[in-house]
Amino acid sequence: MSNSPAAEAARRRTFAIISHPDAGKTTLTENLLLAGGAIRAAGAVRARGENRRTRSDWMKIERERGISVSASVMTFDHDGLMFNLLDTPGHEDFSEDTYRTLTAADAAVMVLDAAKGIEPQTLKLFEVCRLRDIPIVTFINKMDREAQDPIELLDEIASKLALDPAPLYWPAGSGGRFKGMLDLRNQQFLPFAKKTADNKDEGHPAAIGFNGNAVSSYLNPEERAELEETAMLVGEASKPFDPQSFLEGHMTPVFFGSALRHFGIDQLLAGLGAYAPPPKAVAAAKGGEPTHIVPGDPEVTGFVFKVQANMDPNHRDRIAFLRLCSGKFARGMKLKVQNTGRQLSVNAPIMFFASDRELAEEAFAGDVIGIPNHGILRVGDSLSETGTIRFAGLPNFAPEILQRVRVKDPLKAKHLKKALEGLAEEGVTQLFRPQFGADFIVGAVGQLQFEVMADRLANEYQLEVQFEASPFAEARWITGTKAEIEDFNTKHKTAMATDIDEQPVFLAKSAWELGYVVERYPTVAFHRTRERG
Ligand code: G4P
Repeated sequence: MSNSPAAEAARRRTFAIISHPDAGKTTLTENLLLAGGAIRAAGAVRARGENRRTRSDWMKIERERGISVSASVMTFDHDGLMFNLLDTPGHEDFSEDTYRTLTAADAAVMVLDAAKGIEPQTLKLFEVCRLRDIPIVTFINKMDREAQDPIELLDEIASKLALDPAPLYWPAGSGGRFKGMLDLRNQQFLPFAKKTADNKDEGHPAAIGFNGNAVSSYLNPEERAELEETAMLVGEASKPFDPQSFLEGHMTPVFFGSALRHFGIDQLLAGLGAYAPPPKAVAAAKGGEPTHIVPGDPEVTGFVFKVQANMDPNHRDRIAFLRLCSGKFARGMKLKVQNTGRQLSVNAPIMFFASDRELAEEAFAGDVIGIPNHGILRVGDSLSETGTIRFAGLPNFAPEILQRVRVKDPLKAKHLKKALEGLAEEGVTQLFRPQFGADFIVGAVGQLQFEVMADRLANEYQLEVQFEASPFAEARWITGTKAEIEDFNTKHKTAMATDIDEQPVFLAKSAWELGYVVERYPTVAFHRTRERG
């Protein structure tokens, strides 16, 4: 096989899984890794998934290389393709993190609990995918439990997400009466094996022709007639699967299965291989001029979508996750950060194989490498060999909760500043420095982020902190002419702060006050997001 950047990129499938908590994301992740040959037994990912949700137990990379590190990105080679599965935090308090991760994904698998359909968090994450036109594959999970009528589930996808569902399979029953599913494209029936009386999982029988006699071993005449009828009805009522419409974000292929019972997983993986897109051209600027970076371009380029504090608090180093966009990356290569011009030799890149394979020496567009560094790399940075390529930065979102943070030992105030800056650089929380007063204001989307922050400040920086209510409820970045900003600043001194990049931020005490001020200053722009990088 050719090792050219274009050919290698073409066999990459980089995707993330989105779901409401409990729909089965962790179980599906694990079973996809199993199906992809990346792990040998189920049970490995689960505990770590839970640990990682609170971010309290990030493990030492050397000790835990492989599956635990790969809790963020997992790579496996299957059927001639390289799959990069990006993990997204399950808790909604980390939705900003999820957004950034999705910027590095080329497709998403949306997992629905067959009994619950589309849940609030599914909707929220779906909207993020839509913002970026990420094609979505739907997996309707837990068919081994009592499910909603699948036709209603399809209706819900169509009405709530404005997405055309195109079922590729159709289930026969659900719960105790779940018998398997019909492949609508080739009329093959895939039987679902019940567990044996002693609760053993014996694997599922091979697919058989739906029109032959053998199917009667799995379906009684009524079940068979019902499946035949509904499959026909669905075929008539839904649009046939159109790969182009899927790639454009208008249509979603629908798969059914049971992640827990490893049913429908091989089909989902094959579907991802066949339909999910390889990395595509990315809009960027080169020396200030707009351009497109194509995966086959010889120059190595990429952007940092996530930074994670290292496992070793004594060294304070961090791992920056770089999504490659073009070229052939080789270990030891020198890359330059576009906005700072700093150069770094990437001598110890980490690839996140979920199996116990050796580290890869090279990587291509679509791959994610971890770069250990001491704070040179920030979320949103663009890296390339020439240092001239700039991808769109990643946005910071206006936080929903603003709290004052105080360190219990006043002698450690300076130390606190550094620690808070470190965490803000990671993009976990946001930091605002009011023009008046010595306290820092920390912003987050959800309460859990504060808990994680306190925990990390204590463990990684030996700082005991206290969060207190702040008088502010809303934060907005402001832009305008220099004179306008200065004028605004003078009139709202006590409500002005700067963010980590010294950008001016207006802090309002209530949504009402914000609305009032916005109306009074029509020439000043108030932003909910700010692009970094
Ligand atoms: P999440 O990451 O999306 O939050 O979901 P997770 O995989 O942790 O699954 C949530 C619960 O749903 C787990 O049960 C899991 O075993 C169950 N589950 C996942 N997929 C299926 C499926 O296809 N069929 C059935 N019947 N259950 C499924 P739990 O009771 O919370 O955890 P556990 O004690 O069973 O591990």
